[in-house]
Amino acid sequence: MASFTVPAIDGMSDAAPSASPPAILTCQNVEKYYGTRGNITKALDGVSLEVRTGEYVGIMGASGSGKTTLLNCISTIDRPTAGHILIEGQDITKLKQSQLARFRRERLGFVFQDSNLLDTLTARENIALALTINRIEPSQIEGRVDEVAARLGITDVLAKYPYEMSGGQRQRVAAARAIVTRPSLVLADEPTGAIDSKNSRNLLESFEQMNASGATIVMVTHDSFAASYAKRILFIKDGRVFNEVIRGAKTRKHFFDHIIDVVSFLGGEAADAR
Ligand SMILES: Nc1ncnc2c1ncn2[C@@H]1O[C@H](COP(=O)(O)OP(=O)(O)OP(=O)(O)O)[C@@H](O)[C@H]1O
Ligand SMILES: [Mg+2]
Repeated sequence: MASFTVPAIDGMSDAAPSASPPAILTCQNVEKYYGTRGNITKALDGVSLEVRTGEYVGIMGASGSGKTTLLNCISTIDRPTAGHILIEGQDITKLKQSQLARFRRERLGFVFQDSNLLDTLTARENIALALTINRIEPSQIEGRVDEVAARLGITDVLAKYPYEMSGGQRQRVAAARAIVTRPSLVLADEPTGAIDSKNSRNLLESFEQMNASGATIVMVTHDSFAASYAKRILFIKDGRVFNEVIRGAKTRKHFFDHIIDVVSFLGGEAADAR
């Protein structure tokens, strides 16, 4: 990293916070190629990064820059062509297919752009299913679902089916499903991409609360507003991390203005400001 700096804008820093907690996620020179000889796309071109326990990291970049590919490699949905990814010290690129499902289910929580809820289950059942799969005591399930639903403000939709909910409600149910298992790492790919601004704000505030109560979050977005809720933002371009901004002591509003400055400085190439 640090091959590119933006001197005119304050707050740009590659300094790590002092007395940092341990790394929960480490990517070392991750490469991902798609296609076969003669028609290869280099989606990731040597990504190295570290995320520490309790962080809330945003990943920004233009369409096609490799954000989803990176998240899919971290989430074990996809396998890197080269390099290593460590989650809580375990090299997930070395896990066998049979170990991956268990690793995903126990350690990771996902929120996708499209909520991916099961249509034939109610919100309560969708959230509870994550616990059942993880073999949580049946007697604990209802209480855990109620607790997370209250936190995300979806108590009144628990009996509804996905088609009976708004897009924003579906996204919050998906967020509840992602965190109810108390995963080490929550991964979100454009979680506000398909919802309006009021619902986006609700979801982002929910993420902020999840982070405040201990969840480590990595969120891909090309929306500067969504990114302003994170504490640190990595910019990715052509499959490489090339810049970083840190929120530090800034208010969210100030950080938002700062991100807008950076994005426009980068000429809208690094991220599409919306
Ligand atoms: N399954 C695939 N097969 C071939 N090429 C792919 C595949 N998935 C992604 N790519 C290519 O890899 C590059 C990175 O794609 P990726 O989906 O990671 O971008 P992104 O940053 O998430 O973009 P967006 O903001 O549009 O979601 C693109 O050039 C894309 O065309
Ligand atoms: Mg994407």
